[in-house]
Amino acid sequence: MNIFVKNTETMTRKLKRSFSAALAALLLVVIPARAQESLQDMIERGLDRAADQALLLARNLEGTPDALPHTYQDGKLLTTTYRSWISGFFPGVLWMLYEDSGDGQLGKYAEIFTDRVEPAKKLTSTHDLGFMLMSSFGQGYRITGDRRYLEVILEGTDSLMTRWNPSLGVMKSWNENKRWKYPVIIDNMMNLEMLCFVTHVTGNRFYENAAEKHAQTTIKNHFRADASTWHVVSYDPATGQPHAKNTAQGYSDDSAWSRGQAWGLYGYTMMFQETNNPIYLEQARKIARFLLDHPNLPEDKIPYWDFNAPDIPGALRDASAGAIMASALIQLSQLDPGPEAARWLETAEQQLRTLSSPEYLARKGEMGGFLIKHGVGSLPGKAEVDVPLTYGDYYYIEALLRLKKLLHQRKSLPL
Ligand code: GLY
Repeated sequence: MNIFVKNTETMTRKLKRSFSAALAALLLVVIPARAQESLQDMIERGLDRAADQALLLARNLEGTPDALPHTYQDGKLLTTTYRSWISGFFPGVLWMLYEDSGDGQLGKYAEIFTDRVEPAKKLTSTHDLGFMLMSSFGQGYRITGDRRYLEVILEGTDSLMTRWNPSLGVMKSWNENKRWKYPVIIDNMMNLEMLCFVTHVTGNRFYENAAEKHAQTTIKNHFRADASTWHVVSYDPATGQPHAKNTAQGYSDDSAWSRGQAWGLYGYTMMFQETNNPIYLEQARKIARFLLDHPNLPEDKIPYWDFNAPDIPGALRDASAGAIMASALIQLSQLDPGPEAARWLETAEQQLRTLSSPEYLARKGEMGGFLIKHGVGSLPGKAEVDVPLTYGDYYYIEALLRLKKLLHQRKSLPL
């Protein structure tokens, strides 16, 4: 190649490069970067979508007696009854959205779907009564003050207490089976709120004392040195000691199943809120550090279904775990007087931004009225895999409302 041609080509390439750089700089100045949506706008957009979807779901199920939403899978809306641990979440969604918007339609449906959960108050075969009754009747009582709702909670709490064993210091989650003598799962921390609530309402310390004992026995036996939690700890009633530590819904006995970690974080934050006992604050902080410092927590802060899933980064996310974490972290940021509070809140905000993106938030009219996509119920059980989950919707809405309240309080403070 002759030298002249070579120099001309080099000059042309240089000119092209400078032109491209100049054009890019010009575009940067002329077209401002798309501004990030404000938190207020994101919250209102999420709540508006939630109300549209909840009304759709309510209308879809209104004419089916006793039905409560389960999930939306393969183009079908699946339902369940009062017997399921998830039965109270949809009534709770309706109550929260009614309180936020004042929309009478939402209030009417909140009453209808809450009534469908009432027979659960007599169940003694499940530890999940706290989930079932506090999200439905608890929200209804808080918002309306209707004494009938309180009576259901009081009866349900006594049903739940039939599963309490004071010598072991824990409540039985599942009944004895071939593998486990007295199984307790980390999820059980979530049922303690109802016990604390009943003590606050009645003045009878029996319930909150049991909740405190359960929470402390669980700190002793459920957590590993790194503050991650086993899913199932089974106690031997003869010795009072754990005889097995396993998983049921996680990847392996040694793994950190994401929703279980989220229940632990939420449960101990709630127990600190209810009792002011600092050991629960410390436990919540330890769990939060484990989750937020974990190398497998993705940049967008929505966890894979298990922190040790073998196919990370290809593993499925569990949006429900992200929503539970977000709600708990907002609460923790308000209760923790230490320097990490800002980090708890920033992470929750990021989680809510991700869940409010088109990847996770259903479009209006989509998915039969469910709201948050990409939840995982039980991957080992091949049940509810990569679908919307009613508790994912519940905790997403609760988290938005907690953040809304917080921003409102901040604005009302004198500058
Ligand atoms: N048992 C409650 C859950 O699946 O998280």
